[in-house]
Amino acid sequence: MTETENFNKIVQDKKFQTGKNFVQHGDFSVYDHSIYVCETCFKMSKKLHLKVDKESLAKGALLHDYFLYDWHKKDHPRFHSFRHAGFAAENAKRDFGLNSKEEKMIRAHMFPLGLKVPTSKEAILLCIADKYCATRETLKGKRKHLKNLIKFRKAPE
Ligand SMILES: [Fe+2]
Ligand SMILES: [Fe+2]
Repeated sequence: MTETENFNKIVQDKKFQTGKNFVQHGDFSVYDHSIYVCETCFKMSKKLHLKVDKESLAKGALLHDYFLYDWHKKDHPRFHSFRHAGFAAENAKRDFGLNSKEEKMIRAHMFPLGLKVPTSKEAILLCIADKYCATRETLKGKRKHLKNLIKFRKAPE
Protein backbone atom coordinates (compact mmCIF):
# COMPACT_ATOMS: atom_id res chain seq x y z
CA MET A 1 0.00 0.00 0.00
CA THR A 2 1.25 3.53 -0.73
CA GLU A 3 1.35 6.22 1.94
CA THR A 4 -1.74 7.87 0.40
CA GLU A 5 -3.70 4.59 0.42
CA ASN A 6 -2.60 4.01 4.00
CA PHE A 7 -3.57 7.54 4.95
CA ASN A 8 -7.03 7.30 3.34
CA LYS A 9 -7.75 3.86 4.72
CA ILE A 10 -6.98 4.94 8.29
CA VAL A 11 -8.57 8.39 8.14
CA GLN A 12 -11.82 6.93 6.77
CA ASP A 13 -11.94 4.16 9.35
CA LYS A 14 -14.92 4.44 11.73
CA LYS A 15 -12.96 3.60 14.86
CA PHE A 16 -10.20 6.06 13.99
CA GLN A 17 -12.89 8.69 13.51
CA THR A 18 -14.03 8.23 17.13
CA GLY A 19 -10.98 10.42 17.83
CA LYS A 20 -13.13 13.34 16.68
CA ASN A 21 -14.95 13.04 20.00
CA PHE A 22 -11.81 13.07 22.16
CA VAL A 23 -10.16 16.39 23.01
CA GLN A 24 -6.38 16.42 22.59
CA HIS A 25 -5.09 19.99 23.05
CA GLY A 26 -7.12 23.20 23.00
CA ASP A 27 -9.73 22.96 20.24
CA PHE A 28 -7.95 20.06 18.55
CA SER A 29 -9.45 16.59 18.76
CA VAL A 30 -7.26 13.48 18.75
CA TYR A 31 -8.37 13.05 15.11
CA ASP A 32 -7.26 16.59 14.13
CA HIS A 33 -4.02 16.25 16.08
CA SER A 34 -3.13 12.92 14.44
CA ILE A 35 -3.62 14.31 10.94
CA TYR A 36 -1.70 17.49 11.79
CA VAL A 37 1.22 15.44 13.15
CA CYS A 38 1.20 13.19 10.08
CA GLU A 39 1.26 16.16 7.69
CA THR A 40 4.04 17.79 9.73
CA CYS A 41 6.15 14.60 9.59
CA PHE A 42 5.93 14.62 5.78
CA LYS A 43 6.67 18.36 5.54
CA MET A 44 9.73 17.94 7.78
CA SER A 45 11.04 14.95 5.83
CA LYS A 46 10.70 16.90 2.56
CA LYS A 47 12.41 20.00 3.97
CA LEU A 48 15.29 17.91 5.29
CA HIS A 49 15.45 15.82 2.07
CA LEU A 50 15.23 12.67 4.12
CA LYS A 51 14.61 9.32 2.46
CA VAL A 52 11.92 7.82 4.61
CA ASP A 53 9.67 4.80 4.56
CA LYS A 54 6.56 6.80 3.62
CA GLU A 55 4.11 3.99 4.25
CA SER A 56 5.35 3.49 7.80
CA LEU A 57 5.65 7.21 8.42
CA ALA A 58 1.98 7.71 7.48
CA LYS A 59 0.76 4.76 9.51
CA GLY A 60 2.88 5.35 12.62
CA ALA A 61 2.13 9.09 12.68
CA LEU A 62 -1.63 8.73 12.18
CA LEU A 63 -1.93 6.02 14.82
CA HIS A 64 0.53 7.35 17.42
CA ASP A 65 -2.31 8.53 19.72
CA TYR A 66 -4.80 5.76 18.93
CA PHE A 67 -5.47 5.14 22.63
CA LEU A 68 -9.25 5.51 22.19
CA TYR A 69 -10.40 7.42 25.29
CA ASP A 70 -10.72 11.04 26.38
CA TRP A 71 -7.82 11.78 28.71
CA HIS A 72 -9.58 14.91 29.97
CA LYS A 73 -12.35 12.84 31.53
CA LYS A 74 -12.10 11.70 35.14
CA ASP A 75 -12.25 7.96 34.45
CA HIS A 76 -9.30 7.83 32.02
CA PRO A 77 -6.45 5.41 32.83
CA ARG A 78 -3.93 6.78 35.34
CA PHE A 79 -0.53 8.07 34.22
CA HIS A 80 -1.86 8.80 30.73
CA SER A 81 1.33 10.62 29.64
CA PHE A 82 3.49 7.60 30.38
CA ARG A 83 1.14 4.85 29.28
CA HIS A 84 -0.87 6.03 26.27
CA ALA A 85 1.85 5.25 23.72
CA GLY A 86 1.65 1.60 24.77
CA PHE A 87 -2.16 1.59 24.59
CA ALA A 88 -2.04 3.21 21.14
CA ALA A 89 0.47 0.63 19.87
CA GLU A 90 -1.65 -2.28 21.13
CA ASN A 91 -4.90 -0.88 19.68
CA ALA A 92 -3.27 -0.02 16.34
CA LYS A 93 -1.71 -3.49 16.09
CA ARG A 94 -5.09 -5.10 16.76
CA ASP A 95 -7.13 -2.90 14.37
CA PHE A 96 -4.71 -2.09 11.55
CA GLY A 97 -1.71 -4.40 11.93
CA LEU A 98 1.75 -2.84 12.40
CA ASN A 99 5.23 -3.85 11.35
CA SER A 100 8.01 -3.60 13.89
CA LYS A 101 9.14 -0.13 12.74
CA GLU A 102 5.61 1.28 13.07
CA GLU A 103 5.09 -0.26 16.48
CA LYS A 104 8.41 1.13 17.76
CA MET A 105 7.56 4.58 16.35
CA ILE A 106 4.32 4.68 18.30
CA ARG A 107 5.83 3.30 21.52
CA ALA A 108 8.68 5.85 21.48
CA HIS A 109 6.75 8.98 20.43
CA MET A 110 6.63 10.39 23.99
CA PHE A 111 10.42 10.29 24.45
CA PRO A 112 11.96 11.44 26.82
CA LEU A 113 8.86 10.47 28.85
CA GLY A 114 8.87 6.70 29.24
CA LEU A 115 11.87 4.57 28.55
CA LYS A 116 11.43 3.95 24.83
CA VAL A 117 13.98 5.77 22.67
CA PRO A 118 13.14 6.58 19.01
CA THR A 119 15.62 4.64 16.87
CA SER A 120 14.53 5.11 13.23
CA LYS A 121 14.39 8.31 11.15
CA GLU A 122 10.61 7.93 11.06
CA ALA A 123 10.40 7.60 14.85
CA ILE A 124 12.58 10.67 15.41
CA LEU A 125 10.47 12.71 12.97
CA LEU A 126 7.29 11.61 14.74
CA CYS A 127 8.69 12.46 18.17
CA ILE A 128 9.68 15.98 17.09
CA ALA A 129 6.52 16.66 15.01
CA ASP A 130 4.30 15.54 17.89
CA LYS A 131 5.88 18.03 20.31
CA TYR A 132 5.83 20.82 17.75
CA CYS A 133 2.13 20.25 16.93
CA ALA A 134 1.11 19.79 20.59
CA THR A 135 2.77 23.10 21.50
CA ARG A 136 1.08 24.95 18.63
CA GLU A 137 -2.31 23.43 19.44
CA THR A 138 -2.00 24.34 23.13
CA LEU A 139 -0.88 27.90 22.37
CA LYS A 140 -3.71 28.37 19.86
CA GLY A 141 -6.16 27.30 22.55
CA LYS A 142 -4.56 29.62 25.11
CA ARG A 143 -4.61 32.56 22.70
CA LYS A 144 -8.31 31.95 22.05
CA HIS A 145 -8.97 31.67 25.76
CA LEU A 146 -7.10 34.93 26.42
CA LYS A 147 -9.06 36.68 23.65
CA ASN A 148 -12.29 35.49 25.25
CA LEU A 149 -11.14 36.77 28.65
CA ILE A 150 -10.32 40.17 27.17
CA LYS A 151 -13.70 40.25 25.41
CA PHE A 152 -15.36 39.33 28.68
CA ARG A 153 -13.59 42.11 30.57
CA LYS A 154 -14.54 44.69 27.95
CA ALA A 155 -18.16 43.59 27.86
CA PRO A 156 -20.52 46.19 29.30
CA GLU A 157 -22.15 45.28 32.61
FE1 LIG B 1 0.86 11.02 22.44
FE1 LIG C 1 0.40 13.17 19.83
